[in-house]
Amino acid sequence: MRKTIVALSMLICIGIVTTAFFTDAKELAHKENATDSSRAEKNYANYCGGCHGERMDAFVDRRWKHGSTSSDLFKAIKVGYPDEGMPGFDTTFTDDEINELVAYIKTGIENVSRYNFTEPNRSNVFKHESLTVKLDTVLKGINVPWGMAFLPNGDMLVTERGGKIYRVTKFRKTQTITGVPEVVAEGQGGLMDIILHPNFKQNNVLYISYSKGKKTNNGVLATTAITRAVLQGNVLTQQKVIFEAQPYSRTRHHYGSRFEWGKDGFLYFSVGERGNEKENPQDLKRHSGKVHRIKEDGSISADNPFVNTPGAMASIYSYGHRNPQGMAIHPKTGEIWTHEHGPRGGDEINIIRKSKNYGWPVASYGLNYNGTVLAKTSTREGIEPPLLYWIPSIAPSGMAFVKGNRYKEWKDGLLVGSLRFKYLNLCTLKGDKVVKQEILLKNIGRVRDVRMGPDGFIYVAVESPGAVVRLLPVRD
Ligand code: HEC
Repeated sequence: MRKTIVALSMLICIGIVTTAFFTDAKELAHKENATDSSRAEKNYANYCGGCHGERMDAFVDRRWKHGSTSSDLFKAIKVGYPDEGMPGFDTTFTDDEINELVAYIKTGIENVSRYNFTEPNRSNVFKHESLTVKLDTVLKGINVPWGMAFLPNGDMLVTERGGKIYRVTKFRKTQTITGVPEVVAEGQGGLMDIILHPNFKQNNVLYISYSKGKKTNNGVLATTAITRAVLQGNVLTQQKVIFEAQPYSRTRHHYGSRFEWGKDGFLYFSVGERGNEKENPQDLKRHSGKVHRIKEDGSISADNPFVNTPGAMASIYSYGHRNPQGMAIHPKTGEIWTHEHGPRGGDEINIIRKSKNYGWPVASYGLNYNGTVLAKTSTREGIEPPLLYWIPSIAPSGMAFVKGNRYKEWKDGLLVGSLRFKYLNLCTLKGDKVVKQEILLKNIGRVRDVRMGPDGFIYVAVESPGAVVRLLPVRD
């Protein structure tokens, strides 16, 4: 299993660079068997991995304190920085071996730097190898858009993290929805996702997720909550909180909070671990760090996996999650796909299966943001390995499968927004495998959400400045 994942990641995440690396390594190893991993890779695993993590490419995604030129790296390895805890390896390795390590580390640095887009985005036409698209701006002048929902009459609803919901009419008029519950708009929290009831046309019911506050003697605590409401005109009425993640927390991050309707008619949604990785994700008595499944009225199905587990929260469907901010139903298999923000170098795509453990924080590819090793292993018995992980972390948000026939070039594609690198990631799939990735909309801004509209177009919500755009294919 492990071998497959490593091979897969090499293929996917560091594609071109890896090829270059293997060529160098082969030369250095005097054309030894190319499938034998190089001496540098082995030395890294044996001598560096214990402190810097098993993945070299996660280690190099950092702010270099002592520089990252070949001579800086050579010096760091040879004499170390003993005051900082970095031992010198001059008695362990020959200069040749150190140079090999330097070349190896350089391949990882190049991999990170391919996201340093320099071209400013001044035009509304984005040329890609696969397909050129033109942006059609649907909504602008908002701050951080978070979620989008398309109404049967051709209007759309857009949530703004600060606590507002906008209706964009099919004539592109922007209206404000009133009666939105009060949200704790601090840190990563506020108003988040929005989804319509499957029978919205008949009942006008919708669901919103948000950071809900609670005043205590120790200040305001917050949690991920879901309110069910009826949209009458532009007013949210008959509101009912149908889910409130326990426990509330003092933190203001990792709320998770994406929705999807499963093929089984249940509402699936994610709750992040709220920054409490030690207690939340692996404990079934807590809602945080889980994917949940509830009925449309908030009640819980008798065949949820943990309904008979003493003390467990009955809504839990899968656990061991960090901060999932993307969820989409695979158009063919009907399975629930999610992605989540991992630690440094450990963002993942997962297929969500009943009762499974996705490993956080006991198994992960990532490092702590201070560079220390988090999980001793990336894989472990009883833990679902990710379908894909990103090194460096792209900070994924929003997820949609490309459907319909407007984008033939992107057929069977999976779109994922990148907050960190400000682009839209296209994964080409073959079955459950990601066989290729392409960078779309370079430098467009922090991509918060991506959806397929009922008109067959892709809609993308970006931050700073906040906007919702529609992608129009351009073919000569
Ligand atoms: C005993 C733990 C330990 C081992 C083993 C170790 N390092 Fe380090 N290394 C550190 C610490 C601690 C630092 C300084 C803090 C930091 O930057 O992470 C550091 C710093 C570095 C730096 C400088 C980083 C910068 O920001 O400029 C490089 C390069 C480096 N290590 C490479 C390696 C390589 C290559 C190996 C294996 C040959 C290795 N280290 C083995 C602990 C270790």
